[in-house]
Amino acid sequence: MKKKLNILVIGSGAREHSICWSLSKSKKTNKLFCIPGNAGISKIASCEEINPVDKKSILKFCNEKKIELVVIGPEEYLAAGLSDFLTKNNVKTFGPSKKASRLESSKSFAKKFLNRHKISTPSYKEFTSLVDAKKFLKNSSFPLVIKADGLAAGKGVVICQKLSEGLLALGEILSKKKFGNAGKKIIIEEFIEGFEISFFAFFDKKSFLPFGYALDHKKAYDNDVGPNTGGMGCFTPSKLMNKNLEEQIYKNIIKKTFCGLRKDKVDYRGVIFFGLIIKNNKPYIIEYNVRFGDPECQTLLRDLKTDLLDIFLATIEDELSKIKISKYNMKVICVVLASLGYPGNYQKNKLLKNLDKIKKSNNIEVFHAGTKLVKNKFYSNGGRVLCITARSTTLENARRIAYKAIKAMNWKNGFYRKDIGIKNK
Ligand code: GLY
Repeated sequence: MKKKLNILVIGSGAREHSICWSLSKSKKTNKLFCIPGNAGISKIASCEEINPVDKKSILKFCNEKKIELVVIGPEEYLAAGLSDFLTKNNVKTFGPSKKASRLESSKSFAKKFLNRHKISTPSYKEFTSLVDAKKFLKNSSFPLVIKADGLAAGKGVVICQKLSEGLLALGEILSKKKFGNAGKKIIIEEFIEGFEISFFAFFDKKSFLPFGYALDHKKAYDNDVGPNTGGMGCFTPSKLMNKNLEEQIYKNIIKKTFCGLRKDKVDYRGVIFFGLIIKNNKPYIIEYNVRFGDPECQTLLRDLKTDLLDIFLATIEDELSKIKISKYNMKVICVVLASLGYPGNYQKNKLLKNLDKIKKSNNIEVFHAGTKLVKNKFYSNGGRVLCITARSTTLENARRIAYKAIKAMNWKNGFYRKDIGIKNK
């Protein structure tokens, strides 16, 4: 067996908790660290109070602790060049370079890439001038989608049903600068009616490896109403997926993206999250993300049999072609418990008093998002607080296990969607 590694995971969400959980099960993991982490992660990794934007302090920490692999979770640190910086300083890092991260950090860049390489995506136009954008909207039919060009923490996409909504969104982004520099440029995109799938594949310089998919629930409340969130829950698999669709995703989405990156001489090492809309069994890319999805990651890692550490190392060494992904082939569901008021204003520091009422079993795993420990008790510390993941041989059973656990908590300061895994299951 190869020597055991000291590993550092960057991030503080339930996605990073599930990555730490998965890595902690690897026989090749020695010490596990997380910057900054959360209360749940602190039970399986050593959490360090270092600011993830402080590249030099991270490098110093890596040298002190003899870190042999860094895994970067959130897009903002990738877009800021953390992967380039660590790699240049001889620290193996899972996560794409700043240049490759442009696929997510600039919608305009991604759209040009998609069109240049003839990959299916809704038609679009881009604008920096409010006057020009308004003129275009007045001559358009609705619905339409308006997107801020840069990173906006998942809030930069507005689906406009009519002109008044479009004009409002333009004013907020281009005039009131709601998203700062991220909204200096916008794209206006054709709206395609269909269902969304988050599809994931690992990429290295020489090959790619499809990983799996999950169906996310972005709206805050049941039946897809309310404001957009980072994701209130997801499940996998879905009866909406079929052999033909999977083949198209492989050939027309993943492979074409791989060939496009190659043609453009962009070395991509990491995971790509393809935000897809499916209409008439045909996939269109509505966005690229250069990281795992949250909560999709939690769901997919619960079903992964292959050692995640082997996948990460193979990606960095351009040896993905040697990896075979094997799964338990279970049905998995993830339900998010959020603070009351999320995604708007919410209160923090609320005791999670019944967390211990969730009975531990092989079929249930609770991943922490916004949590902190005070005197060995768990408190809320963010909008999304916990991700209850359950797996079983049927989705109905997985749903039952997850909801039984969340009900047992009976957390008065939070809410959750009750319909995860019902639609399109
Ligand atoms: N769940 C959607 C995202 O991670 O962007």
